[in-house]
Amino acid sequence: MTILVTGGAGYIGSHTVIQLLESGNDVIVLDNLCNANPEVFNRIEKICNRRPAFIEGDVRNAVLLDTIFSNNQIDSVIHFAGLKAVGESVANPVLYYQNNVAGSITLFEVMQQHGCKKVVFSSSATVYGDPASIPVTESSPYAPANPYGTSKMMVENILTDLHISDNNWQVALLRYFNPVGAHPSGLIGEDPKGIPNNLMPFVTQVASGQLEKLSIFGGDYPTQDGTGVRDYIHVQDLARGHLKALEALAENHGCAAYNLGTGVGYSVLDVVNTFMQENQLDIAYQIVERRAGDVAEYYADPSFSSDRLGWKAEHSLKDMVRDHWNWQKNNPEGY
Ligand code: NAD
Ligand code: UFG
Repeated sequence: MTILVTGGAGYIGSHTVIQLLESGNDVIVLDNLCNANPEVFNRIEKICNRRPAFIEGDVRNAVLLDTIFSNNQIDSVIHFAGLKAVGESVANPVLYYQNNVAGSITLFEVMQQHGCKKVVFSSSATVYGDPASIPVTESSPYAPANPYGTSKMMVENILTDLHISDNNWQVALLRYFNPVGAHPSGLIGEDPKGIPNNLMPFVTQVASGQLEKLSIFGGDYPTQDGTGVRDYIHVQDLARGHLKALEALAENHGCAAYNLGTGVGYSVLDVVNTFMQENQLDIAYQIVERRAGDVAEYYADPSFSSDRLGWKAEHSLKDMVRDHWNWQKNNPEGY
């Protein structure tokens, strides 16, 4: 089976590509490398003795997409390609709607023209905003709090409408919680450009001495220790969720949204303390003001994904901090 993976050179995409190749699929990656390094393909080859076909290009390029679909028998698409920095989306919303929404529309148009109607979409728990109750189920209302989150909601709406218009469209909307960790080989992992925004890459860069100190945003939230609580999920579990979603599409399950989280919330201090214990390292930190736009606490109710996809996260927080550090330690400058 041939699967087109947009954004397959990125963090979550590359881990998924490995599992697709290891399961015997043929993979074509389309990525414009705006947030990725082609070295990832050498690493993928080291891990699975195969590499995916790679086309450097943009999902907004309809002519290129048309050529790809004309030249290959593509069974389904996993659509990771997108921009993901919340702050940047607030500063430059048009860029986010152009890339994430217009790019998706172009892709779906070309898929439709070629009769390819199976798609797994990278959505985000961010579509829930500040949820009224936790754990968060898939029926919680949409309440995105920034253009990035709105762009994910819009693409979910477009795909839902496509399925209503033509139920041959098989759609899985995967709402990721907080992806962390890396491939256990330490050969591939998250490679953020500049100073990381997210907690785990910031922690690992403090551990490696590239950054001096972690600022913990807020110590006065109504949580067990006052710091923010999230549902961290190992990228390997997340990647496996995509293979499960493809199986569901093959069985004509229709169009549905799935939470991909563990169902367990950990605080920032839980993450930092587990990182220090597991890796036998010290992390300097200070508790500072809350970060604007942050939510106190949320974690997934993953039971629908378990029932419908037969998918459950298997890795512990210890696995996540160990594997993320293993990647950072072996690749202090990234790829
Ligand atoms: P990433 O930046 O590592 O990967 C995205 C990839 O898409 C990159 O390789 C980038 O070069 C490529 N890309 C971006 N725009 C493109 C375009 N127009 N055409 C072709 N390629 C393009 O990010 P990631 O963490 O792997 O995230 C993958 C997807 O999952 C994104 O859609 C993101 O919004 C979503 N997501 C990520 C998180 C997270 O915390 N990492 C959480 C929820 C959802
Ligand atoms: N945090 C710190 N210090 C830091 C970075 C983060 O204390 O330097 C805290 C945050 O305040 C929060 C927790 O660590 O309590 C997690 O923050 P992240 O920035 O790692 O993740 P977010 O939950 O804010 O958001 C992430 C992605 C979003 C995505 C969301 C849900 O950045 O794009 O998960 O999937 F939408």
